Amino acid sequence: MVNIAVLGHGVVGSGVMEVLASNGKNIGKKAGKNIEVKKILDLREFPDLPYADRFTKNFQEILSDDSIHVVVEVMGGVNPAYEYVSESLKKGKSVVTSNKELVAAKGAELLKIANEHNVNFLFEASVGGGIPIIKPLHLCLGANEIFEIAGILNGTTNFILTKMIRESMSFADALAMAQKLGYAEANPAADVEGHDACRKICILASLSFGRHIYPESVPTEGITKITLEDVAYAESFGRVIKLIGHAKKLEDSDQVSIMVSPMMVSKSSQLSSVDDVYNGILVRGSATGDVVFYGKGAGKLPTASAVVSDIIDCIRADGTIKSLQWQDSTESRVADYKQQPVRAYVRYLGEKGAELAASLFGEVEFLSREGRPMEEAAFVTPLLSEEKLEENLNNMRRQGVEILGKIRLLEE
Ligand code: HSE
Repeated sequence: MVNIAVLGHGVVGSGVMEVLASNGKNIGKKAGKNIEVKKILDLREFPDLPYADRFTKNFQEILSDDSIHVVVEVMGGVNPAYEYVSESLKKGKSVVTSNKELVAAKGAELLKIANEHNVNFLFEASVGGGIPIIKPLHLCLGANEIFEIAGILNGTTNFILTKMIRESMSFADALAMAQKLGYAEANPAADVEGHDACRKICILASLSFGRHIYPESVPTEGITKITLEDVAYAESFGRVIKLIGHAKKLEDSDQVSIMVSPMMVSKSSQLSSVDDVYNGILVRGSATGDVVFYGKGAGKLPTASAVVSDIIDCIRADGTIKSLQWQDSTESRVADYKQQPVRAYVRYLGEKGAELAASLFGEVEFLSREGRPMEEAAFVTPLLSEEKLEENLNNMRRQGVEILGKIRLLEE
């Protein structure tokens, strides 16, 4: 038998208890030992639970208990999670977490501490909910050089966009529904402003490209400016709007082009049919070509599934798993996004728009939608740098054209 402790009894923590209770025998077989949750840390009281006697409010009780070998951190946030995780690792306990904020902020450091103490720091649940992606990246795809990752990494925003597209539901109603279903972050701004997706693409890029990429260095846009009009133009162009985390290793350089933004995705791309709370992650490898991972990216049991699978790996591991490592980086390896090539959809109001679009951008493709008012139009630019795109749009603004929307295209 192996004792573990769970820090936090919210959506994910209670899901972990549920999965262990409902499938404990099988899980024990896979781990090679039965798993016993000895302590649960939470500041709240849960007197009605059958395991109410295992709750503590004092982390030191867990830290000082040498019979606890694995600590499961599912509290969220960087503090005090960071202190609890680093102290646990230094005490020789492996740690499993679903906390993407923590991994994105402190991953390199915590992996190093785990390595120094011959234990593991595992975080499968931090990206893609129930989808296996971390382990496939460092183990199953280990033969590849990873060139590029494009992912729908946030279930809440994908749920909201799907409701807007398919049911013309308002943004606020769809968000409320996602919150009720337990998909959204405690502060949903992290979802709708793109920060959650940013943390996740940083984790995937750090693992794939070998150096820590910090979220602060990644240009990030959310979905709050997307309208039903944009959705209709995208449809007329054979595309759908998705919030995409994108990272690409630049050729002949150790720099990474990385960004989170709403993008128009071609209906011929597998990512275009990833709907509702599902996530989809496309990984482009040197030997495999494209591999796509798909599944529920948020929610109690899918996330708990990934946590429990990491618990099994910790119990089975003989020391630190060496393939799950990346280096810290003082210098940013993030390429200046303004110099990166992009094609974009632009929606505007103003009579002079068509003439200006053609003279500034060259060959543009005009789009249409049902019910388009006379003064509104939308077009797609040719490939140009982000800097030139902004310069041209500012030029249009100066000449009285109101830019209503700009959405990048995801190139296949
Ligand atoms: N709020 C996150 C999402 C939860 O919607 O994807 C899972 O990380």
